[in-house]
Amino acid sequence: MTGIICGTGSYAPSYVMDNNEIATMVETSDEWIKERTGVATRHIIKDETTVSMACEAAKRALDDGGVRAEEVELIIVSTISSNIILPCTACEVQKELGAVNATCFDMSAACSGFVLAYNTALAYLSGGVYRTALIIGSESLSNLTNWKDRGTCILFGDGAGAAVMRAGEGRVYLPVTHSDGAKGKALTCLSRHTSIAAERMTDPEYYMQMDGQAVFKFAVKKVPEVISEVLTKNHVEKEEITWYIMHQANSRIVEGVAKRLDEPIEKFPMNLQEYGNTSSASIAILLDEMKRDGRLKSGQKIVIAGFGAGLTWGAAVMEWI
Ligand code: UT7
Repeated sequence: MTGIICGTGSYAPSYVMDNNEIATMVETSDEWIKERTGVATRHIIKDETTVSMACEAAKRALDDGGVRAEEVELIIVSTISSNIILPCTACEVQKELGAVNATCFDMSAACSGFVLAYNTALAYLSGGVYRTALIIGSESLSNLTNWKDRGTCILFGDGAGAAVMRAGEGRVYLPVTHSDGAKGKALTCLSRHTSIAAERMTDPEYYMQMDGQAVFKFAVKKVPEVISEVLTKNHVEKEEITWYIMHQANSRIVEGVAKRLDEPIEKFPMNLQEYGNTSSASIAILLDEMKRDGRLKSGQKIVIAGFGAGLTWGAAVMEWI
């Protein structure tokens, strides 16, 4: 028994912020942002919330998979930017969908979140604990972005992606994941839900702070390593892989990973041009786009790979059905 993705969905806020708009807030330019990151636009919430985007992406995934809400036995939402702490975002999704038979919890693993949600659901489904799972990445990173910091505000965007997984016959590919808490300082954000004085809430440490170069170097080194590790572990040759669906952080990171793996860049789809970095939503949004436009075909082997704050990183292999 394994876990098989049978439906995908995504949601992006209708408001689109381009690089020129960012250049009105910080000293930067469309040219610099495109050249150093690949990002041209990002979707930013206006009326949406992390919960509402998660619900919409989830509904679309259920529709796509032909799965009824009552069939869902597990809902995992990966997020670092929910508008609510209690109840958890996954319980709000359950309520909205009417997924009355689901066990629900949130997961906080930043940009590795969707890979970890997938792995967790896979373990439950392949272990026979549940038969149907819904995994969602939903982020309103604009709420955690310091719009005065040009080292970070150029990168991030908002959105949500979801996948429905069913237990079914097939091979279980074992994932590989790692964490290095000792290097956590590279990307931080203090919680605003502490007993701090209201006037301190605007301090930069209550927004995402990043050592961009450190994260960049970490990603370009560790992601190819973990991809090689997951392929070796599962006795899969890289020639068998049709797509490497990576967390969408920076086009130069994706290119660097392709180069180190000695794989053609065409195997590394990107949509960060439009969305920026949507943390745990990025892989799910890309999967959904690729399913809808027909790039994902039955029998293809796919690698998903995430990396980010923690530091955390990991990869999984799956066969598209
Ligand atoms: O989801 C995982 C989390 N994050 C990431 O994966 C991000 C990883 N890091 C990155 O993507 C890149 O490090 C950044 C895009 C954040 C920065 O790009 P970089 O090529 O590493 O730039 P840098 O920090 O080395 O700065 C190069 C120059 C500096 O000027 P000088 O000292 O050479 O004169 C910066 O002051 O570019 C300057 N700079 C900018 N200029 C225009 C830095 N940010 C900007 C900016 N616009 N936004």
